Amino acid sequence: MPHTRLIATLAFSDGTPSVELPIIKGTMGPDVIDVRKLHGQTGRFTYDPGFMSTASCSSAITYIDGDKGELLYRGYPIEQLAVHADYLETCYLLLHGELPTVAQKQAFVDIVTHHTMVHEQMQMFFRGFRRDAHPMAVLTGSVGALSAFYHDSLNIHDPRHRDISATRMIAKLPTLVAMAHRYTQGLPFVYPRNDLSYSANFMHMMFSEEGKPYQVNDVLVRALDRILILHADHEQNASTSTVRLAGSSGANPFACIAAGIACLWGPAHGGANEAALNMLEAIGTPDKIPEFIRQVKDKNSGVKLMGFGHRVYKNYDPRAKLMRETCHEVLEELGLHDEPVFKLAMQLEKIALEDEYFVSRKLYPNVDFYSGIVQRALGIPTPMFTSIFAMARAVGWIAQWNEMISEPDQKIGRPRQLFMGPLPRDCATD
Ligand code: SDX
Repeated sequence: MPHTRLIATLAFSDGTPSVELPIIKGTMGPDVIDVRKLHGQTGRFTYDPGFMSTASCSSAITYIDGDKGELLYRGYPIEQLAVHADYLETCYLLLHGELPTVAQKQAFVDIVTHHTMVHEQMQMFFRGFRRDAHPMAVLTGSVGALSAFYHDSLNIHDPRHRDISATRMIAKLPTLVAMAHRYTQGLPFVYPRNDLSYSANFMHMMFSEEGKPYQVNDVLVRALDRILILHADHEQNASTSTVRLAGSSGANPFACIAAGIACLWGPAHGGANEAALNMLEAIGTPDKIPEFIRQVKDKNSGVKLMGFGHRVYKNYDPRAKLMRETCHEVLEELGLHDEPVFKLAMQLEKIALEDEYFVSRKLYPNVDFYSGIVQRALGIPTPMFTSIFAMARAVGWIAQWNEMISEPDQKIGRPRQLFMGPLPRDCATD
């Protein structure tokens, strides 16, 4: 059977000649209509603010089926990676396309472990911030500042430089995130320990006290590692699209990741985990849930159920299920069976999922609904939640940036517009 080229024919009611646009099929998911020649052939643009129906790129990294609630990293279901892999194995998979062999994993762990230190001068940079600065403000600044220290790996067209930058980013983000935490708490910085695993070292840098080194709790460390896996990548979300667009101009990887961190901060995106826990604490007790739900349904209230809804998932976010399980494990380990906020969250979820307003809009819990509860149980302050999200997502941003830069026909991203402004006019000449 010859390969039949699928074509979309676009006809116009004003007599403009119709155009034929090729349809491209992916390995999974929706086909795309290739509109790259549309403007050249018709003088018209497509119009899609918010990118509701737009594929901005082709990618082989992460696949989401929003209707089924499925998430695959390089073809592996997130449910399997959350059980059978650790975060650094997941990083290797996202960056290289395959899970590492034992030897590859050992080499990757070694190189990441030995790049966790940041330049001592970075401490001066931190000391310029107010102590009450939001950790995401500190992280956005400090990650952007990394390009001031690493001039030897900024040639984005050299794959070796890209590899070095990727390693440095993955290795140093936990150190910078922990420094942001310690600084805003008025605590001394804690240096990385090379004898600990990636997630255990992060907990050490966050929580070690003078003369009382962090006691590694394997259940808690595994819980954090799983949180990082669940947040590692997520297709062309807002912050990943920001990193791709910033990278398309040839900006260095540290500046691009800093742009991604800035975008992630928003409450509609990665800032939702902090907002969701604040929302749960504001509701306080189960008897207040009905009044809160009433406010959410009242469009004039501006109140949203944070941690609910998603542009792609019109079913349960698979990460939310895994996060709820992790939450349960951590609370059990800590003897917090009756943690009131967790109980409140599960009651709120149950009520919402039975309410027509949420059901009709296919609003389900997303990754941010439970992540705050489990992070707080791990001792992580609420303002730090989005920084942890950024630390986890760094590898996804880098993998997507690398994929874009490696495209043979890579171009600068430069969308157009529908102009609704004033017609040409002259300044008063009198
Ligand atoms: C992340 O894109 C990704 O992949 C992101 C992410 C990742 O891993 O990178 O998954 C991480 O950002 C998860 C999302 C975290 N954000 C929140 O939890 C904030 C609360 N959620 C909403 O703001 C909202 O659901 C969005 C922003 C997530 C999605 O918004 P959309 O797709 O633009 O949908 P919409 O705003 O047009 O909503 C459709 C309808 C509207 O009602 P109607 O106009 O049809 O009457 O649903 C309503 C909205 O008002 N709605 C909500 C709601 N989310 C949508 N109503 C109440 N509470 C909510 N949370």
